[in-house]
Amino acid sequence: MKILVIGGGGREHAIAWRLLANGHTVFACPGNPGITAHGGTSIPGGDFLAAARQADVDLTVVGPEAPLVAGVVDQFRAEGLQIVGPTAANAQLEASKMYSKQFMVDTGIPTARFARVETVEDGLRALEGFPELPVVIKADGLAAGKGVIIAHTAEEAREAVRTLGPRLVIEEFLIGEEVSFIALCDGKSAVALEPTQDHKTIFDGDTGPNTGGMGSYCDGRILTAEQGADVMRTVIEPAVARLGFSGFLYAGLMMTAAGPKVLEFNVRLGDPETQALMHRMDCDFGEILLAAAEPGGLAGKSFDWKTEPSVCVVMSAAGYPATPRAGDRITGLEDAAATGAVVFQAGTKLGAGNDLVTAGGRVLGVTASGTDLPEAIARTYDAVGKIAFDGAHYRRDIAAKGLKRWQQA
Ligand code: AMP
Ligand code: GLY
Repeated sequence: MKILVIGGGGREHAIAWRLLANGHTVFACPGNPGITAHGGTSIPGGDFLAAARQADVDLTVVGPEAPLVAGVVDQFRAEGLQIVGPTAANAQLEASKMYSKQFMVDTGIPTARFARVETVEDGLRALEGFPELPVVIKADGLAAGKGVIIAHTAEEAREAVRTLGPRLVIEEFLIGEEVSFIALCDGKSAVALEPTQDHKTIFDGDTGPNTGGMGSYCDGRILTAEQGADVMRTVIEPAVARLGFSGFLYAGLMMTAAGPKVLEFNVRLGDPETQALMHRMDCDFGEILLAAAEPGGLAGKSFDWKTEPSVCVVMSAAGYPATPRAGDRITGLEDAAATGAVVFQAGTKLGAGNDLVTAGGRVLGVTASGTDLPEAIARTYDAVGKIAFDGAHYRRDIAAKGLKRWQQA
């Protein structure tokens, strides 16, 4: 098949890499140098419809949320083109936290107790209903991971209401482990991908400011089969049934003592979760994506996965997440690949003399697997150690939270 991937980050590189490995012809708009190096064709610019026509593709899959919210799926369908993703209306599940929380309540999907407010005064009053600290304050709109403040004092909470407001969700703080649970949906039914875990903060030990995600791993032990089935039954299937949702539905879960609760919905694959997922996937991704483009097409389908866990370590640029620096020359990619790892590119570009240079906050997602999680971690960091650029930063503890499941075994 000829498949167009919309986007140009690490997630899209991983999707393209998987599809190329499955023998498909891949175009990416705008794409990135890593996709091109792996054999895909980058189509620069932002006219996705023109790109799909120019490349005469059979299918399009959308990576980031912005084109979904802007209605790219509605636009492609109106033209009779096959595309995997939600409509603009259903993308509101990610674009508006107020909409999303109300949807969860209306649908009976477990989530943190919350209040929705539209003015700073109401927000300050609503805080009285959340006397226990910490309390969580969330801005309504898309904020690239920066719209959430966990306030540990009453004064911090009031300050958060003033800075993030006026349209806010205020909610109780949940305790548990976070899991990224993603399902592919066709408007009627849904098929789960393997659970993954992200690492959101910039520094080890889950400290420092939030980022888009500093690393991930995919391991069949993150949830038991019963827990996975429970999430499908209580979260994914009710959402798909109510919305006729198609595309990737990503539930950011907190596994609390009272069961899984949804922290947020995204309407796309996660980044960097996708890098670990694509590395571990063991089936024809293109075939299952094509099935998902038709209502009911996923009936009887499922994904296959290698047993070996996979790990993705993000290498970020100097100054990330506040003010990433661009233009630092990247070396060692071939040595890293020679270890057997796959280096997915995100914030990169070809500079003068065809040197690869940094061009964004999250620069690379170095991904590898192993027979067990300790080996997957060791192999990934071995590859990371071969790569250098000025100001490079990465966490040393990616996937460490998964080791307890191997030690107990
Ligand atoms: P969100 O954008 O809603 O996923 O929030 C970003 C991050 O804030 C999450 O990944 C969690 O680490 C944290 N967070 C959000 N809501 C809560 C909550 N109710 N309780 C505890 N942590 C939360
Ligand atoms: N890694 C979190 C996200 O993609 O939203």
